[in-house]
Amino acid sequence: MKSWLYPVLLSLSLGLVWSAQAANAKRKAPPAQVASPPGDPVLGKDKADAERCIECHGVDGHGAGHANGPEGKFAKLAGQHPDYILKQIRDFRSGARKHDQMAIMARSVSDEDVRDIAAYFASQPGMKGEGGDAHTVGRRLYEQGDATRGVLACVQCHGAQGKGVAGLPLVPVIGGQEWRYLDQQLRDWRSGERRNSADGVMNQVLKPLTDAEVESLALYLSGV
Ligand code: HEC
Ligand code: HEC
Repeated sequence: MKSWLYPVLLSLSLGLVWSAQAANAKRKAPPAQVASPPGDPVLGKDKADAERCIECHGVDGHGAGHANGPEGKFAKLAGQHPDYILKQIRDFRSGARKHDQMAIMARSVSDEDVRDIAAYFASQPGMKGEGGDAHTVGRRLYEQGDATRGVLACVQCHGAQGKGVAGLPLVPVIGGQEWRYLDQQLRDWRSGERRNSADGVMNQVLKPLTDAEVESLALYLSGV
């Protein structure tokens, strides 16, 4: 398949999944809640505190960030797309994405609260990782992929420097994310431990990559 087709197909298929979910939600919801209002970032700030999200994701979603500790594997949420955040919470809740702590958290909040919390984190200045060195192997893979091994260029979905694409709200911002978290997610996509991307696209993209390439990608992305 032509590589430029992927973002097009992806947005179509994500759009279908999303509207199917929205249609389901509509059928189940009482009439007064038919419209799904966008989250309220002011309410979301208080809820992020009350629901303890900031204990692990950091004040304003900038990460709990202590070097070398397990804390490094807590994702940053600042500037993340709200729709992506809501999808992940639903996936943790259903078990489509596996993580014990987050499954407990996801089951303790309603979608309405998550929309507000996501709106709050999304409204914060974008995530910024450490690093910034020229990790050329990772950068080249990110921008060009590797046609000889069928690796799609990450940039076509995740946008320039991993900052996301406005029209693809279910593709996460990854530029400036904590590098240990990125490194772990990339390995989990590669091994199939994480499998919640539409059509398994992230598993296919990562499959041919070596440890050194994964590490270089994580460091490059964290630094931009
Ligand atoms: C006890 C610590 C802890 C608390 C409290 C917590 N989280 Fe998490 N969260 C994590 C960890 C660890 C991960 C990474 C999971 C993984 O490795 O897959 C995560 C991942 C996530 C992700 C996925 C991020 C991504 O980029 O894919 C979202 C979204 C999220 N948390 C939202 C929340 C929200 C909203 C709350 C509050 C209701 C919350 N979390 C509370 C520890 C926590
Ligand atoms: C065809 C589009 C597409 C391509 C190409 C692509 N991604 Fe993704 N990526 C996605 C989508 C969609 C998700 C979210 C999946 C989900 O719902 O959990 C994702 C998720 C991720 C995540 C998880 C982020 C988080 O916060 O947990 C990382 C890291 C990532 N991609 C890195 C990459 C890298 C590195 C490449 C290139 C080697 C790449 N992606 C190529 C679409 C793509």
